[in-house]
Amino acid sequence: MSAVSGVVTGRHFEYLARRTVGDDAFLLDLKKAASAAGIPAIWIAPEQASFLQILLMLARAREVVEVGTLAGYAAIRMARALPAGGRVRTFEISRKHAEFAHEWAGRSDVATRVEVILGNALEELPKIAASSVDAAFIDADKSSYPRYLKECERILKPGGLLTVDNAFAFGQLFDEPPTDREVPAVRAFNDLLAKSTTFQSVIVPLGDGCWVGVKRASA
Ligand code: DHB
Ligand code: MG
Repeated sequence: MSAVSGVVTGRHFEYLARRTVGDDAFLLDLKKAASAAGIPAIWIAPEQASFLQILLMLARAREVVEVGTLAGYAAIRMARALPAGGRVRTFEISRKHAEFAHEWAGRSDVATRVEVILGNALEELPKIAASSVDAAFIDADKSSYPRYLKECERILKPGGLLTVDNAFAFGQLFDEPPTDREVPAVRAFNDLLAKSTTFQSVIVPLGDGCWVGVKRASA
C-alpha cells in the first residue's frame, strides 16, 4: 500500500464502475453512432457520469450549463438527473458535433431537457444572467478553461456546483514531456482552480480526473 494515499488500483476502478449506473442500450448506440460518424471517443467515463448525476440530484439542480457537448453523452446523462422542467444548456463550437448531439438528444428520454447551442461558449456564456445557474460542467478546449471558469463563476448561483473534466490531462499529467499540447494548459488550470477563493474544490479521481467545486456563498 502506498504510504501516501491508500489502496486504489485500476482493479478498484473496474470494480466500482461495475457497481454504479452504467450505459443503457440507447447510450451504447449513441457511442457507436458517434464513432461511426468520426467523432472522437473522448466522452466522460460512465461511472463519472453517474457521479455527476448524484451531485446534480444532491444539488437539486434545475438549470445546468455544459461547455463542450461533443456527442451529447454527458448532457443526456446529466439531464436524466434533473426534475421535470429542468434543462441542460450545452454549448458546442463544432457544427458536426452539435448536429449529432441535437439529433441524439432529441431521440432520447430527456429530449425536452437538453438544448444544444451551436457557437463559441466564450460568446454565448456572457448572454446568461449572473447567478442564474445551479451547476456547470466544463469539458472543452483546455486553453480556454480559465475563461470558461470566469464565466461559470459569474453565472453560477452562490452554492452552485462546478465540475470540470480532465484534471489528469488525458493521463499525461506527470509526463515529461507530454505528447498532447494541451497538457500545460490543464496543469495551469489545476493550479488556478486550486488557488481560487471563489470555489472550494477537489479533484475526484474518476475518469480522467474530475474537479468538483462549490461556489462559496460569500462569493
Ligand atoms: C480530450 C479531451 C477531453 O475532454 C477528454 O475528456 C479526453 C481527451 C482530447 O482533447 O484529447
Ligand atoms: Mg473531457
